[in-house]
Amino acid sequence: MDEISGRDDKAGLYQELAAQIDALLTGEFDGTANLANAAAAIYHALPALNWAGFYLARGAELVLGPFQGKPACVRIPIGKGVCGSAAERRRSVLVPDVHAFPGHIACDSASQSELVVPLMHGETLIGVLDLDSPLLARFDARDQAGCEALVAIIVRHMVSAPPD
Ligand code: SME
Repeated sequence: MDEISGRDDKAGLYQELAAQIDALLTGEFDGTANLANAAAAIYHALPALNWAGFYLARGAELVLGPFQGKPACVRIPIGKGVCGSAAERRRSVLVPDVHAFPGHIACDSASQSELVVPLMHGETLIGVLDLDSPLLARFDARDQAGCEALVAIIVRHMVSAPPD
């Protein structure tokens, strides 16, 4: 049993969420609308989150995109904080204790742990998915794998064009 989700099968939770997000985004080609629905679906499906949303790559910065949670810092330089580190490294960053992460940017003092997954289209950085939790060590490798699968679906929809 997973203590946080209350489920035997954390992978199953992510599979259900992946199917839900795929269905929500299918047939809609507006990027803002799709990121907004994806953030809402993630925030309400995954337990023990206090923030879930996207930052989008704009030159040398990440700029706040659709999210659920308290208002957040708007601009994060690539390379700064957990989000900027994931963007710079172009790989996921899992932080069990944000207070032990040098340069962590505290948007909500309730946040104790964080998972950031980059949105990549080939070699191009689109942005990042950022999840914050009020629990220490909320995220593990299964969450990282699950969120990377969610991001792959979200990116596929973001880069698809409407039919002629
Ligand atoms: N903690 C993040 C900043 C974004 S907020 O958590 C929403 C960071 O260090 O990059």
